[in-house]
Amino acid sequence: MSFQIVGTGRANPALVLTNEMVSKLVDTNDEWIVTRTGINTRYVSTDETLLDLSVEAANNALNKAGIEGKDLDLIICSTLEGDYITPSLSCLVQREIGAVCPAVDINAACSGFIYGLDMADAYITSDKAETILLIGAEMMTRHLDWKDRSTCVLFGDGAGAVVLKKGNGLKSIKITAKGDDKLLVIGNVFCSSPFSNQPQTDPHFRMNGGEVFKFAVGSALRDVKEVMKKAGVTVSDVKMLIPHQANLRVSQFVKEKMGFSDEQLASAIDHYGNTSSASIPLLLDELVEEGKLSSGDIIVLTAFGGGLTTGACVIEL
Ligand code: ACO
Repeated sequence: MSFQIVGTGRANPALVLTNEMVSKLVDTNDEWIVTRTGINTRYVSTDETLLDLSVEAANNALNKAGIEGKDLDLIICSTLEGDYITPSLSCLVQREIGAVCPAVDINAACSGFIYGLDMADAYITSDKAETILLIGAEMMTRHLDWKDRSTCVLFGDGAGAVVLKKGNGLKSIKITAKGDDKLLVIGNVFCSSPFSNQPQTDPHFRMNGGEVFKFAVGSALRDVKEVMKKAGVTVSDVKMLIPHQANLRVSQFVKEKMGFSDEQLASAIDHYGNTSSASIPLLLDELVEEGKLSSGDIIVLTAFGGGLTTGACVIEL
């Protein structure tokens, strides 16, 4: 027995940045961004911290699940970087929601939410936990070079959360990693040490978009086929394919190659942009709220990102 999703929640910053507004910062235009990526607007943090967004998403998910913070056995936050290096984002969420359980951050870039599901599965199947809060929370806009048009148009900020309880919802799951710091990298800024000979790295998000695109479509197709086969489900059994929201063209490629219909492809990149590991839980909560998903529906999740990492799974809601 693994987990069942019993509550979903999300939070976004207040500022909506349109393509028009981005085109005042760099040499770009609405037409290029929409046709190459599918993005119209994205949310960008101004005064909100990542903790603010995480706590709001967590409380939404807990309320919908009818569970209080004190009932949790574990909190996992998937994030590239919390507001601090330490304390972790998850520890501060624990304090804010009145939980008393262990809390840990994980970083698997855009695949982090599926890595978190895999970890939750391990905790629950080994009887180390019965109720887990998993949050995908990212503030990509503080890692961008706002002078680089090839990357700054792509990302937004947000947090999505799920509450997981012991149950039979998870049908199959797969995660992978292939170490690479050439295709996609965000450098770190360290304090200067009188002993270090290491040069400072570039702290901005840098990506070889074309190569990452090829990696994304190939790995997503491979992973989706594998988890569907393992779960024993066919395309017609699936209510929705929910891919990591990096580029509409990646999602459409996987949809077409797998033979899913337009109605089966979930998408929110038009109003979120790429929110890294927050993208799947943000979209999941929207779909549940809009009544497009309900109990008993089968969904397929797939993600790829920095690391390089990938993940996919089949879940019955
Ligand atoms: N506005 C206008 N023109 C632009 C812009 C822009 N914002 N950005 C690039 N261009 C230009 C380029 O300069 C280039 O011009 P040229 O032909 O004169 O040289 C042209 O547009 C084409 O550029 P490409 O990079 O080839 O465009 P492409 O169609 O590959 O789209 C994109 C780029 C959107 C980044 C795409 O490669 C992509 O989505 N890659 C995958 C990204 C991804 O999946 N990331 C997931 C991981 S993110 C994470 O893990 C945190």
